[in-house]
Amino acid sequence: MKKKIFSGVQPSAIPTIGNYIGAMKHFVALQDDYDCTYCIVNQHAITVPQNPKKLKEQTRSLAALYLALGIDPEKSIIFVQSEVPAHAQAAWIVQCNVGIGELERMTQYKDKSQKQESVSAGLLTYPPLMVADIILYNSEFVPVGEDQKQHMELTRDFVLRFNSRYGNGNDLLVLPDAIIPKEGARVMSLQTPNKKMSKSDDNVKEYISLLDEPAVIRKKIKSAVTDSSGVIEYNPSEKPGISNLLTIFSAFTDRSIADLVEQYASSGYGNFKADLAEAIIAVLEPMQERYKQLLASTELDDILTDGAKRANAIASKTLKKMERAVGLTR
Ligand code: TYM
Repeated sequence: MKKKIFSGVQPSAIPTIGNYIGAMKHFVALQDDYDCTYCIVNQHAITVPQNPKKLKEQTRSLAALYLALGIDPEKSIIFVQSEVPAHAQAAWIVQCNVGIGELERMTQYKDKSQKQESVSAGLLTYPPLMVADIILYNSEFVPVGEDQKQHMELTRDFVLRFNSRYGNGNDLLVLPDAIIPKEGARVMSLQTPNKKMSKSDDNVKEYISLLDEPAVIRKKIKSAVTDSSGVIEYNPSEKPGISNLLTIFSAFTDRSIADLVEQYASSGYGNFKADLAEAIIAVLEPMQERYKQLLASTELDDILTDGAKRANAIASKTLKKMERAVGLTR
Protein backbone atom coordinates (compact mmCIF):
# COMPACT_ATOMS: atom_id res chain seq x y z
CA MET A 1 0.00 0.00 0.00
CA LYS A 2 1.21 3.50 -0.80
CA LYS A 3 2.10 5.78 2.09
CA LYS A 4 -0.24 8.67 2.82
CA ILE A 5 0.41 12.34 2.27
CA PHE A 6 -1.66 15.34 3.30
CA SER A 7 -1.11 19.04 2.79
CA GLY A 8 -3.05 22.27 2.44
CA VAL A 9 -2.87 25.89 1.33
CA GLN A 10 -4.95 28.79 2.64
CA PRO A 11 -7.12 30.60 0.08
CA SER A 12 -6.40 33.90 1.85
CA ALA A 13 -4.83 35.31 -1.35
CA ILE A 14 -3.49 33.97 -4.65
CA PRO A 15 -0.48 31.73 -3.87
CA THR A 16 3.00 33.06 -4.60
CA ILE A 17 6.03 31.42 -6.16
CA GLY A 18 7.12 30.91 -2.52
CA ASN A 19 4.12 28.64 -1.89
CA TYR A 20 4.89 26.92 -5.19
CA ILE A 21 8.58 26.32 -4.51
CA GLY A 22 8.17 25.39 -0.84
CA ALA A 23 5.10 23.21 -1.19
CA MET A 24 2.82 23.09 -4.24
CA LYS A 25 5.49 22.00 -6.72
CA HIS A 26 6.12 18.98 -4.51
CA PHE A 27 2.40 18.16 -4.26
CA VAL A 28 2.49 17.36 -7.95
CA ALA A 29 5.75 15.39 -7.87
CA LEU A 30 4.67 13.23 -4.92
CA GLN A 31 1.34 12.02 -6.26
CA ASP A 32 2.75 9.14 -8.32
CA ASP A 33 4.42 7.45 -5.37
CA TYR A 34 2.04 8.34 -2.55
CA ASP A 35 -1.63 8.35 -1.73
CA CYS A 36 -2.17 12.13 -1.61
CA THR A 37 -4.90 14.35 -0.20
CA TYR A 38 -4.68 18.08 -0.84
CA CYS A 39 -6.96 20.51 0.92
CA ILE A 40 -8.02 24.11 0.37
CA VAL A 41 -8.00 25.17 4.00
CA ASN A 42 -10.65 27.89 3.98
CA GLN A 43 -11.45 27.49 7.70
CA HIS A 44 -7.85 28.46 8.44
CA ALA A 45 -8.23 31.58 6.30
CA ILE A 46 -10.99 33.06 8.50
CA THR A 47 -8.71 33.19 11.55
CA VAL A 48 -7.96 36.71 10.27
CA PRO A 49 -10.60 39.00 8.70
CA GLN A 50 -11.56 38.09 5.11
CA ASN A 51 -13.94 39.59 2.60
CA PRO A 52 -16.56 36.77 2.24
CA LYS A 53 -17.07 37.24 -1.50
CA LYS A 54 -13.34 37.29 -2.16
CA LEU A 55 -12.74 34.27 0.06
CA LYS A 56 -15.31 32.31 -1.91
CA GLU A 57 -13.69 33.30 -5.23
CA GLN A 58 -10.20 32.53 -3.97
CA THR A 59 -11.30 29.10 -2.74
CA ARG A 60 -12.45 28.14 -6.23
CA SER A 61 -9.42 29.81 -7.73
CA LEU A 62 -7.04 27.80 -5.54
CA ALA A 63 -8.78 24.58 -6.56
CA ALA A 64 -8.29 25.52 -10.23
CA LEU A 65 -4.63 26.30 -9.52
CA TYR A 66 -4.08 22.90 -7.88
CA LEU A 67 -5.41 21.23 -11.02
CA ALA A 68 -3.61 23.55 -13.44
CA LEU A 69 -0.32 22.85 -11.70
CA GLY A 70 -0.85 19.17 -12.39
CA ILE A 71 -2.59 17.65 -9.38
CA ASP A 72 -4.59 14.85 -10.91
CA PRO A 73 -7.98 14.13 -9.29
CA GLU A 74 -7.72 10.54 -10.53
CA LYS A 75 -4.64 10.08 -8.36
CA SER A 76 -5.17 12.53 -5.50
CA ILE A 77 -8.09 13.81 -3.45
CA ILE A 78 -8.67 17.56 -3.76
CA PHE A 79 -11.29 19.11 -1.50
CA VAL A 80 -12.42 22.19 0.43
CA GLN A 81 -11.96 21.96 4.20
CA SER A 82 -15.35 23.44 5.20
CA GLU A 83 -17.11 20.71 3.17
CA VAL A 84 -15.80 18.04 5.54
CA PRO A 85 -17.26 18.69 9.02
CA ALA A 86 -14.90 16.23 10.73
CA HIS A 87 -12.11 18.87 10.62
CA ALA A 88 -13.83 21.24 13.03
CA GLN A 89 -15.11 18.34 15.15
CA ALA A 90 -11.68 16.72 15.50
CA ALA A 91 -10.08 20.13 16.10
CA TRP A 92 -12.22 20.47 19.24
CA ILE A 93 -10.83 17.22 20.65
CA VAL A 94 -7.31 18.38 19.74
CA GLN A 95 -7.86 21.73 21.47
CA CYS A 96 -8.94 19.98 24.63
CA ASN A 97 -5.68 18.03 24.66
CA VAL A 98 -3.29 20.89 23.93
CA GLY A 99 -2.16 23.53 26.43
CA ILE A 100 -2.72 27.26 25.92
CA GLY A 101 0.98 27.73 26.68
CA GLU A 102 1.91 25.50 23.74
CA LEU A 103 -0.26 27.60 21.43
CA GLU A 104 1.00 30.93 22.75
CA ARG A 105 4.54 29.82 21.97
CA MET A 106 3.83 29.36 18.24
CA THR A 107 5.92 31.94 16.35
CA GLN A 108 3.33 32.28 13.57
CA TYR A 109 0.73 33.18 16.20
CA LYS A 110 3.05 35.76 17.72
CA ASP A 111 3.81 37.31 14.30
CA LYS A 112 0.24 37.29 13.02
CA SER A 113 -1.37 38.49 16.26
CA GLN A 114 0.94 41.51 16.29
CA LYS A 115 -0.40 42.54 12.89
CA GLN A 116 -4.07 42.37 13.97
CA GLU A 117 -6.03 45.14 15.64
CA SER A 118 -8.12 42.56 17.42
CA VAL A 119 -6.93 38.96 17.69
CA SER A 120 -9.54 36.22 17.24
CA ALA A 121 -9.55 33.11 19.43
CA GLY A 122 -9.32 31.17 16.16
CA LEU A 123 -5.89 32.63 15.45
CA LEU A 124 -4.65 31.05 18.69
CA THR A 125 -6.40 27.71 18.09
CA TYR A 126 -5.39 27.54 14.42
CA PRO A 127 -2.63 24.92 15.00
CA PRO A 128 -5.07 22.37 16.53
CA LEU A 129 -7.17 22.69 13.37
CA MET A 130 -4.05 21.95 11.32
CA VAL A 131 -3.34 18.96 13.59
CA ALA A 132 -6.88 17.73 12.92
CA ASP A 133 -6.41 18.14 9.14
CA ILE A 134 -3.36 15.92 9.21
CA ILE A 135 -4.41 13.16 11.60
CA LEU A 136 -7.86 12.63 10.06
CA TYR A 137 -6.24 11.18 6.92
CA ASN A 138 -3.76 8.90 8.76
CA SER A 139 -1.06 10.97 7.08
CA GLU A 140 2.49 9.71 7.24
CA PHE A 141 4.08 12.65 5.44
CA VAL A 142 3.22 16.33 5.16
CA PRO A 143 5.02 18.42 2.49
CA VAL A 144 5.34 22.00 3.77
CA GLY A 145 7.67 24.99 3.79
CA GLU A 146 9.90 25.79 6.74
CA ASP A 147 7.40 28.15 8.39
CA GLN A 148 5.17 25.17 9.24
CA LYS A 149 7.89 23.25 11.08
CA GLN A 150 6.72 24.31 14.54
CA HIS A 151 3.09 23.36 13.72
CA MET A 152 4.34 19.96 12.61
CA GLU A 153 6.20 19.49 15.89
CA LEU A 154 2.99 20.34 17.75
CA THR A 155 1.19 17.72 15.63
CA ARG A 156 3.71 15.06 16.55
CA ASP A 157 3.57 16.00 20.24
CA PHE A 158 -0.22 15.79 20.13
CA VAL A 159 -0.25 12.36 18.45
CA LEU A 160 2.18 10.90 21.00
CA ARG A 161 0.15 12.38 23.86
CA PHE A 162 -3.21 11.22 22.48
CA ASN A 163 -1.94 7.70 21.88
CA SER A 164 -0.50 7.41 25.35
CA ARG A 165 -3.55 8.99 27.07
CA TYR A 166 -6.24 7.09 25.24
CA GLY A 167 -4.63 4.23 23.29
CA ASN A 168 -4.29 1.58 26.01
CA GLY A 169 -1.04 0.56 24.39
CA ASN A 170 -2.28 1.00 20.81
CA ASP A 171 -1.23 3.67 18.34
CA LEU A 172 -4.66 5.11 17.59
CA LEU A 173 -3.35 7.97 15.48
CA VAL A 174 -0.54 7.93 12.92
CA LEU A 175 2.61 9.92 13.74
CA PRO A 176 3.37 12.15 10.71
CA ASP A 177 6.69 13.50 9.45
CA ALA A 178 7.14 16.83 7.70
CA ILE A 179 8.73 16.83 4.25
CA ILE A 180 10.60 20.13 4.04
CA PRO A 181 12.59 20.70 0.82
CA LYS A 182 16.36 21.12 1.16
CA GLU A 183 16.26 24.14 -1.10
CA GLY A 184 13.45 26.68 -1.34
CA ALA A 185 11.84 25.91 2.02
CA ARG A 186 11.87 29.62 2.76
CA VAL A 187 11.66 31.80 -0.34
CA MET A 188 12.33 35.41 0.61
CA SER A 189 10.64 38.67 -0.36
CA LEU A 190 11.92 40.27 -3.57
CA GLN A 191 12.13 43.69 -1.90
CA THR A 192 13.19 42.72 1.63
CA PRO A 193 15.25 39.55 1.17
CA ASN A 194 15.65 38.92 4.89
CA LYS A 195 11.87 38.52 5.22
CA LYS A 196 9.78 35.54 4.04
CA MET A 197 7.80 35.99 0.81
CA SER A 198 4.11 36.07 1.78
CA LYS A 199 0.93 36.02 -0.31
CA SER A 200 -0.79 38.44 2.06
CA ASP A 201 1.85 41.16 1.88
CA ASP A 202 0.48 44.66 1.19
CA ASN A 203 3.27 45.57 -1.24
CA VAL A 204 2.75 43.50 -4.40
CA LYS A 205 6.38 44.03 -5.42
CA GLU A 206 7.45 41.77 -2.54
CA TYR A 207 6.15 38.65 -4.28
CA ILE A 208 5.23 37.06 -7.61
CA SER A 209 1.77 35.56 -7.58
CA LEU A 210 1.10 32.41 -9.60
CA LEU A 211 -1.37 34.47 -11.64
CA ASP A 212 0.91 37.44 -12.41
CA GLU A 213 1.10 38.20 -16.12
CA PRO A 214 4.45 37.90 -17.94
CA ALA A 215 4.96 41.69 -18.12
CA VAL A 216 4.38 41.97 -14.37
CA ILE A 217 6.80 39.10 -13.67
CA ARG A 218 9.52 40.79 -15.77
CA LYS A 219 9.00 44.07 -13.94
CA LYS A 220 9.02 42.55 -10.46
CA ILE A 221 12.18 40.52 -11.11
CA LYS A 222 13.88 43.57 -12.64
CA SER A 223 13.17 45.60 -9.53
CA ALA A 224 14.13 42.81 -7.08
CA VAL A 225 16.63 44.05 -4.50
CA THR A 226 20.18 42.70 -4.92
CA ASP A 227 23.45 44.40 -3.92
CA SER A 228 26.12 46.56 -5.51
CA SER A 229 28.87 43.98 -5.96
CA GLY A 230 27.56 42.65 -9.27
CA VAL A 231 28.89 39.16 -8.50
CA ILE A 232 26.57 36.18 -8.82
CA GLU A 233 27.25 33.81 -5.96
CA TYR A 234 25.20 31.86 -3.44
CA ASN A 235 25.75 33.32 0.00
CA PRO A 236 22.44 33.89 1.85
CA SER A 237 23.92 35.79 4.81
CA GLU A 238 26.12 38.17 2.78
CA LYS A 239 24.08 38.34 -0.43
CA PRO A 240 20.47 37.49 0.50
CA GLY A 241 18.90 39.07 -2.58
CA ILE A 242 20.91 37.32 -5.26
CA SER A 243 20.94 34.04 -3.28
CA ASN A 244 17.14 34.13 -3.14
CA LEU A 245 16.96 34.72 -6.90
CA LEU A 246 19.31 31.77 -7.45
CA THR A 247 17.03 29.57 -5.34
CA ILE A 248 14.02 30.67 -7.39
CA PHE A 249 15.90 30.13 -10.68
CA SER A 250 16.95 26.66 -9.59
CA ALA A 251 13.40 25.69 -8.58
CA PHE A 252 11.89 26.83 -11.88
CA THR A 253 14.49 25.12 -14.09
CA ASP A 254 15.41 22.08 -11.96
CA ARG A 255 19.03 23.08 -12.48
CA SER A 256 21.44 23.14 -9.54
CA ILE A 257 22.49 26.44 -8.00
CA ALA A 258 26.14 25.55 -8.68
CA ASP A 259 25.34 25.08 -12.35
CA LEU A 260 23.58 28.45 -12.56
CA VAL A 261 26.40 30.24 -10.72
CA GLU A 262 28.86 28.78 -13.20
CA GLN A 263 26.82 29.86 -16.22
CA TYR A 264 26.24 33.42 -14.98
CA ALA A 265 29.63 33.96 -13.29
CA SER A 266 30.73 36.60 -15.75
CA SER A 267 27.35 38.08 -16.69
CA GLY A 268 25.85 41.06 -14.88
CA TYR A 269 22.69 41.05 -12.76
CA GLY A 270 20.66 42.46 -15.67
CA ASN A 271 21.24 39.46 -17.89
CA PHE A 272 20.71 37.02 -15.05
CA LYS A 273 17.43 38.65 -14.04
CA ALA A 274 16.13 38.74 -17.62
CA ASP A 275 16.75 34.98 -18.00
CA LEU A 276 15.23 34.28 -14.58
CA ALA A 277 12.03 36.13 -15.50
CA GLU A 278 11.74 34.05 -18.71
CA ALA A 279 12.30 30.82 -16.76
CA ILE A 280 9.42 31.68 -14.40
CA ILE A 281 7.17 32.69 -17.31
CA ALA A 282 7.95 29.43 -19.15
CA VAL A 283 6.36 27.51 -16.25
CA LEU A 284 3.60 29.90 -15.22
CA GLU A 285 2.22 31.03 -18.59
CA PRO A 286 1.00 27.60 -19.83
CA MET A 287 -0.26 26.83 -16.32
CA GLN A 288 -2.29 30.06 -16.34
CA GLU A 289 -3.91 29.03 -19.63
CA ARG A 290 -5.12 25.75 -18.09
CA TYR A 291 -6.22 27.68 -15.01
CA LYS A 292 -8.49 29.99 -17.04
CA GLN A 293 -10.14 27.04 -18.78
CA LEU A 294 -10.70 25.19 -15.52
CA LEU A 295 -12.15 28.20 -13.77
CA ALA A 296 -14.75 28.56 -16.47
CA SER A 297 -15.73 24.88 -16.39
CA THR A 298 -18.23 22.95 -14.27
CA GLU A 299 -15.67 20.13 -14.19
CA LEU A 300 -14.00 21.96 -11.32
CA ASP A 301 -17.13 21.84 -9.16
CA ASP A 302 -17.66 18.15 -9.93
CA ILE A 303 -14.07 17.39 -8.87
CA LEU A 304 -14.52 19.27 -5.58
CA THR A 305 -17.85 17.59 -4.83
CA ASP A 306 -16.33 14.18 -5.46
CA GLY A 307 -13.21 15.12 -3.44
CA ALA A 308 -15.31 16.15 -0.42
CA LYS A 309 -17.19 12.87 -0.59
CA ARG A 310 -14.01 10.81 -0.64
CA ALA A 311 -12.41 12.94 2.10
CA ASN A 312 -15.54 12.67 4.27
CA ALA A 313 -15.45 8.89 4.11
CA ILE A 314 -11.88 8.75 5.44
CA ALA A 315 -12.11 11.63 7.93
CA SER A 316 -15.36 10.52 9.58
CA LYS A 317 -13.83 7.11 10.35
CA THR A 318 -10.86 8.63 12.18
CA LEU A 319 -13.15 11.08 13.98
CA LYS A 320 -15.30 8.16 15.24
CA LYS A 321 -12.15 6.45 16.48
CA MET A 322 -11.11 9.61 18.35
CA GLU A 323 -14.58 10.12 19.85
CA ARG A 324 -14.71 6.54 21.04
CA ALA A 325 -11.24 6.83 22.58
CA VAL A 326 -12.13 10.00 24.47
CA GLY A 327 -15.53 8.72 25.62
CA LEU A 328 -17.71 10.93 23.47
CA THR A 329 -20.18 8.13 22.78
CA ARG A 330 -23.29 6.81 24.50
P1 TYM B 1 0.09 28.73 3.71
O1 TYM B 1 -1.20 28.84 3.00
O2 TYM B 1 0.63 29.94 4.42
O3 TYM B 1 1.23 28.26 2.73
C1 TYM B 1 1.08 27.09 1.93
C2 TYM B 1 2.39 26.34 1.86
O4 TYM B 1 3.43 27.19 1.32
C3 TYM B 1 4.55 27.21 2.19
N1 TYM B 1 5.16 28.55 2.12
C4 TYM B 1 6.42 28.78 1.70
N2 TYM B 1 7.39 27.96 1.29
C5 TYM B 1 8.56 28.53 0.94
N3 TYM B 1 8.79 29.87 0.97
C6 TYM B 1 7.84 30.73 1.36
N4 TYM B 1 8.06 32.04 1.38
C7 TYM B 1 6.58 30.19 1.76
N5 TYM B 1 5.40 30.75 2.19
C8 TYM B 1 4.57 29.72 2.41
C9 TYM B 1 3.99 26.92 3.57
O5 TYM B 1 4.99 26.42 4.44
C10 TYM B 1 2.92 25.91 3.25
O6 TYM B 1 3.47 24.61 3.14
N6 TYM B 1 -0.92 26.30 8.02
C11 TYM B 1 -0.70 26.16 6.59
C12 TYM B 1 -1.85 25.52 5.87
C13 TYM B 1 -2.33 24.24 6.45
C14 TYM B 1 -1.69 22.97 6.33
C15 TYM B 1 -2.54 22.06 6.99
C16 TYM B 1 -0.50 22.54 5.73
C17 TYM B 1 -3.47 24.04 7.15
N7 TYM B 1 -3.61 22.74 7.47
C18 TYM B 1 -2.20 20.70 7.07
C19 TYM B 1 -0.18 21.19 5.83
C20 TYM B 1 -1.03 20.29 6.49
C21 TYM B 1 -0.48 27.53 5.97
O7 TYM B 1 -0.86 28.54 6.50
O8 TYM B 1 0.07 27.50 4.72
